[in-house]
Amino acid sequence: MEISTTRNPNPVTDERLAEILADPGFGTFFTDHMFVAEWTPDKGWHKARIEPYGPIALDPATAVLHYAQETFEGMKAYRHDDGSIWSFRPEQNAARMARSSQRLAFPELPIDEFVTAVDELVRVDQRWVPESAEGDEKSLYIRPFMFASEIFLGVRAAQHVTFMVIASPAGAYFKGGVKPVRLWLSESYTRAGRGGMGAAKTGGNYASSLAAQDEAYSKGCDQVVFLDASEGKYIEELGGMNIFFVYADGRLVTPETGTILEGITRASILELAAKRGLKIEERRVAIEEWQQGVASGEITEVFACGTAAVVTPVGELLWEGGSVTTEAGPVTMELRKTLVDLQFGRAEDSFDWMHKIV
Ligand SMILES: Cc1ncc(COP(=O)(O)O)c(C=O)c1O
Repeated sequence: MEISTTRNPNPVTDERLAEILADPGFGTFFTDHMFVAEWTPDKGWHKARIEPYGPIALDPATAVLHYAQETFEGMKAYRHDDGSIWSFRPEQNAARMARSSQRLAFPELPIDEFVTAVDELVRVDQRWVPESAEGDEKSLYIRPFMFASEIFLGVRAAQHVTFMVIASPAGAYFKGGVKPVRLWLSESYTRAGRGGMGAAKTGGNYASSLAAQDEAYSKGCDQVVFLDASEGKYIEELGGMNIFFVYADGRLVTPETGTILEGITRASILELAAKRGLKIEERRVAIEEWQQGVASGEITEVFACGTAAVVTPVGELLWEGGSVTTEAGPVTMELRKTLVDLQFGRAEDSFDWMHKIV
């Protein structure tokens, strides 16, 4: 892929950038550039370019605005103490985007082209990757996305597709230390059904989670837990994270794949935990197993995981008429530290998961 680069003539000043990186929050500030490539059936992927970050004009009949044909990814670049910049298993994000794209009837973007696009943008905007001290996990959040850019109101796979990458500095998810989250069990909304889009990272799944997420906020909870759509009995995942259960007998249990988003953090935890000798079970997990397992002491820890927060202890599950509480335990906190240390270059990368960008 030939990438042309047009430098932003008005990049953010060093002074302003220092202010932003001191407290970046999440998803509000964007780097000076963006990556763009287009696809048509006759030309394939073409016009790959890095250009100044800015608004894109869309015709009102652009297909994505009507039928939500879009996919996206979420990943991070981490600055190590020696100044070098790394991403974590980027080929896994590329592979997941290819799977999402297949489900959403998009052309496939080859894995190496996805990784090159991300690397090139990060290289051009490398001053935006924050320095990070231990306990203050700042990073550059990277958002690759693909959308139906054809101007056409017929319902079919778009014949003009745009792939873009934007990036945004991100502060520590937990300011002032890791805090267990409170979860709301959604019994009226589901996220995904058999044959649906649950395993794809596509905007529609997030749009459909918002009412449930609002319900969770109104109950004083941080996130929502979804159950399976057919029986309303088995735990799937949270609005934006996968979930794990630690058992007193050394088992680590997580819902099986199929209708959930297959998290790269989830997959990494499964490998790390197996290496540590935990017995892994990927299977259906009934909601009563959680409720009763915590009450009986069989389940000792519950945690959620994803790129944003890495590993998050679950402190409470709340539902209409009851709740169970758990504490942040040693398995959760050790897995969290192992992953964070690896991402920030403070531990040996024995799995060869880190990818050097700069
Ligand atoms: C619905 C959902 N599940 C799980 C995850 C975790 O995936 P990953 O570990 O790749 O960030 C995410 C986050 O991106 C998500 O949005």
